[in-house]
Amino acid sequence: MSRPIANPDLPSPPSGKYPAKAHAKRVAQWIADNGGPKSGVIYLEGQTTRMTEDDDTATQFRQRRHFYYLTGCDLPDCSFAYDIAAEKSTLWIPPVDPEYVMWAGMPLLPKEAKDRYDIGYVHTTDELRAGGKSIAGLISTQQTVIMAIRDRADLALFHAEKLKKYEPKLDFDWARKGIEACRVVKDGHEIAMIRHANIVSSYAHEQILASVKRAKNERELNAVFVMHCHANGCKEQAYGCICASGTNASTLHYVHNDMPLEGRLNLLIDAGCEYECYCSDITRTFPLNGGFTKESREVYELVLQMQTECMGMIKAGVKWEDVHFKAHTVAAEGLRSLGILSKDLSTEEILASKVTTRFFPHGLGHYLGMDTHDVGGNANYDDPDEMFKYLRVRGTLPANSVITNEPGIYFRKFPLEQELADGKWREVIDEAVLERYWNVGGVRIEDDIWVKEGGCENLTTVKSGPEYIEAAVNNG
Ligand code: GLY
Ligand code: MN
Ligand code: MN
Repeated sequence: MSRPIANPDLPSPPSGKYPAKAHAKRVAQWIADNGGPKSGVIYLEGQTTRMTEDDDTATQFRQRRHFYYLTGCDLPDCSFAYDIAAEKSTLWIPPVDPEYVMWAGMPLLPKEAKDRYDIGYVHTTDELRAGGKSIAGLISTQQTVIMAIRDRADLALFHAEKLKKYEPKLDFDWARKGIEACRVVKDGHEIAMIRHANIVSSYAHEQILASVKRAKNERELNAVFVMHCHANGCKEQAYGCICASGTNASTLHYVHNDMPLEGRLNLLIDAGCEYECYCSDITRTFPLNGGFTKESREVYELVLQMQTECMGMIKAGVKWEDVHFKAHTVAAEGLRSLGILSKDLSTEEILASKVTTRFFPHGLGHYLGMDTHDVGGNANYDDPDEMFKYLRVRGTLPANSVITNEPGIYFRKFPLEQELADGKWREVIDEAVLERYWNVGGVRIEDDIWVKEGGCENLTTVKSGPEYIEAAVNNG
């Protein structure tokens, strides 16, 4: 009997309409509560069809996330308006273009769009451009503020002859601020989407583990991942897969994915698919031959301990800087007990030296949602403190946010090698011990975490214990 390509045992994707009206209402409420206009219109345009330079084919379409948040509509060339006072949402979709139908088939019709999306009224964009009554009605019934996003809306529309008499005021701050703040806190539908993306990605990661022994090149494992996501209903990747063998894993966002596996110890794969615009972001690291070396296992267990201790702290109200600092503290203690860092120094002294940023240079995690590095984190890339400079989320985590927990330890020659040659870490790093760890490359373990009152839930289902990892590789 031949095996099916897609896995029939994976759960069905969540059903139900994307809750666009509830999102629009929440955004309007947030704007009003935070000192913005209490009435007016939020006007957004979705992503347009864009052509490849010097070619007649369209580039890959990716809907603007702020637009999707208020519409659930994944079509190009659409517009949307929300009348705050009337709680009325209107979507304009492209009209039927008979010439285009021959090439691309029938587009969605307004009636079908009304059935598919959680939207009050659907019209076509030709009617909008003509300044027809669907838009005139919106801006004539009130002393209107149009809240739009700068450079993402053709505002000539509101200055057109037919609408000029209403003299709408244009605001470019509140729509973006409101949507970005609201997107941090997910509702049940969004959590279900992220969970489903995680289930499919986790399955694809399991298939990677089972395929390693037959692979000869990083690119084959990249392909295995994408194949299983696509075959199981997740066509889009949330970001470019990082499939890094051996010392390539010390490059955080390695993108080449084309090196032979022969002679290398470990593979780090950071890969996640999207489901209906919602992302997953998962990293696993494993020994290519199914057995960790002593040094690789030590580093793997240290990273797992960093992740586990941080997981124990994640709950609504926790300050993300404190969780990130915990990861550095565990790293400091672990690297000292391995002898890579001096046993003569206290944990406090090691942390004060900032040497852990040479081994764990990135932030512990970022919000996850419709973007992999999701909006709303308030990062401070100008922070003079190296330990917090790349932390993509600052401040306290709200309930129902989703955040990645992704500690790592990397043996990255740049800039460490030069610094060692210059004597910078003479009192801190034992170079003879470090020498044994360079070929571990890098270990990262990354899961996607739903933040709750009093605790959290891990949405990532592929396991990460070292015994499981070795067995999964060995059992194929
Ligand atoms: N996949 C990129 C990251 O983990 O941030
Ligand atoms: Mn991540
Ligand atoms: Mn990642």
